[in-house]
Amino acid sequence: MTADPRLAASRAAQVQAEDFRQAVLRQVEALTADNQRLLQSVVRSERRFRTLAKSVWHVQEEERRRLARELHDGIGQTLTALANQLQRILDDARGAGNLGLEHRLEDALELTRNSLRDTRELSRLLRPTLLDDLGLDAALNWLARTLTERTGLSIELHSELDEQRLHPDVETLVFRVTQEALTNVIRHAQARSARIALERRGPVLRLRVEDDGRGLDPQTLAESERAGASGGIRGMRDRAELFGGRVEIQSKPGSGTVVQMTLALDPPDAG
Ligand SMILES: Nc1ncnc2c1ncn2[C@@H]1O[C@H](COP(=O)(O)OP(=O)(O)O)[C@@H](O)[C@H]1O
Ligand SMILES: [Mg+2]
Repeated sequence: MTADPRLAASRAAQVQAEDFRQAVLRQVEALTADNQRLLQSVVRSERRFRTLAKSVWHVQEEERRRLARELHDGIGQTLTALANQLQRILDDARGAGNLGLEHRLEDALELTRNSLRDTRELSRLLRPTLLDDLGLDAALNWLARTLTERTGLSIELHSELDEQRLHPDVETLVFRVTQEALTNVIRHAQARSARIALERRGPVLRLRVEDDGRGLDPQTLAESERAGASGGIRGMRDRAELFGGRVEIQSKPGSGTVVQMTLALDPPDAG
């Protein structure tokens, strides 16, 4: 029996090809395992980053709460006492026939009362106790009323929450995004009216802040966001992302702006 050299060569080639295939498979497996490990470590870092960013945000809110209380209880109380004293002096001065003094006291009293009102408003804007005590509907209602009184912008609030409470962090997030969006309307939009709408569809919460102002060019906004300007809008997006939500801005020059935040709420027992 003579061995066919062509057959032997073809077998050798087959064995070589199989070895090569196995080697490639092993490399692919090793690469897949490496990728998996990298992905897991990215997910872990991302989770750590979110936890860290959330705790920075908590510290900020806590600081605002402390300042708000200090303003209200400290300067607020002092101004209240001052107004009461001025009122008593004014009462004594009345009837003494010194009209000039009466007017000056009345002016001083009015100044004091205005400062007291400004102090209380500033304290609430820093952190409304309403938000902790009564929840979003009450706090947004107060915000709309205060901004309307101060600027003349008509602000309508439509909420489907029916005074239902959400997780405190979510309530704070929605309040802050609304506050920033309305501040932008007042500062930039030249609008006559604005509308806040809060909707809930199952686990999805949606906030819309719309205005009928001059609108903005999305391209310009995207550029200014990339350039690191637009801190307000960037901040809204970053905060929403911390809670797995997202913020979209829809606008055309001349036809108003809509800021929309969409957020999936955790199931109640997940905290
Ligand atoms: N409701 C709005 N109507 C018109 N322009 C707006 C509105 N909101 C934001 N803008 C524009 O987008 C820019 C970025 O807003 P923002 O990030 O909040 O920064 P800032 O308010 O500090 O300028 C504003 O400077 C303004 O030109
Ligand atoms: Mg802004």
